Amino acid sequence: MGITSSPLTPEHIPSSPSLTPQQYELLHGGGAEAAEISKHRLSRRRFLRRSMFAVWAISATASVAGALNMLYPNLAGQFGSILTVGTKTDFPAAKPNGFMLNQAGVFYHQEAKTYVMHLHKDTQFSLQGTTLSDQSTAETVVKDKDGSYWIGLYQRCVHLGCTVPFRDDCVSFKCPCHGSHYNVTGEYLDGPAPRSLDRFALSFNGDDVLIDTGTLNARVPHPDDTTRLIPVPTVQCSV
Ligand code: FES
Repeated sequence: MGITSSPLTPEHIPSSPSLTPQQYELLHGGGAEAAEISKHRLSRRRFLRRSMFAVWAISATASVAGALNMLYPNLAGQFGSILTVGTKTDFPAAKPNGFMLNQAGVFYHQEAKTYVMHLHKDTQFSLQGTTLSDQSTAETVVKDKDGSYWIGLYQRCVHLGCTVPFRDDCVSFKCPCHGSHYNVTGEYLDGPAPRSLDRFALSFNGDDVLIDTGTLNARVPHPDDTTRLIPVPTVQCSV
C-alpha cells in the first residue's frame, strides 16, 4: 500500500513570520532599512524612492521654517519685544530737579536699551489740563493711577545714534558725540538733534512695568512754549 501524501491545505503552508523592525534587527542584525523592506515586502527600489521623497520633504519643510523664522523672528524676551523691566517700586519717582541716575526718577535698563523715567505726581508742568494730557499722549508719557508720570526713553541719540548718558550734574541727557541736549522728559533742549528723544510704549501689568521695544514713537519734534512739558533746566551742561 503506497504511501499517500495528504495535500497541503493553506493552513499547513508555513507563512513567513511578520516581524517588527525591532524584531528584525535582533534576529538579523541588519539595518532599519532591511527591516523596513522585510516588513512591507517592498522592493529596494521602491524603498529608496520613498526614502528620497522623505529626505526631500524634510529639507523643504526645514527651508520653509527657516524662511518664516527670518520673516517673523521670535523675539520673545529679547530687544524688539515687550520686556518686563521691573516692578513699580523699583523706580522711585522724583521731581525733575531731583533726578539721580538709578536712584530717583531715572533708571537705565540695559536689555531694553531704555531709560525708565518716573516723574513725581507733584511735578510742576508748563502745561495744564487737557493741553497737558494731549501733549503727554503725543509724547508717549503715561499717567499712573497715583498721579505720577512714566516715560520709556530709547537710549539712542536721534542725531547720529550715539548712546546718550544721563548726567546727574546737568539733571538732563547730554550726548558726548556732538553735544545734543535733552530734558528729563526727553524733550530737545539744544544741539544738532533734529527732534526730541524717541520713546518706547510703556504700560503696566499689575505692578510690573513693561516696555514695548518694538513700538517706538520717533515723532516728537523740537518743543516750543506751547508744547514743552517741563521748564528748561537752569543748570549749565558742558560736553
Ligand atoms: Fe548725539 Fe550727534 S550723535 S549729538
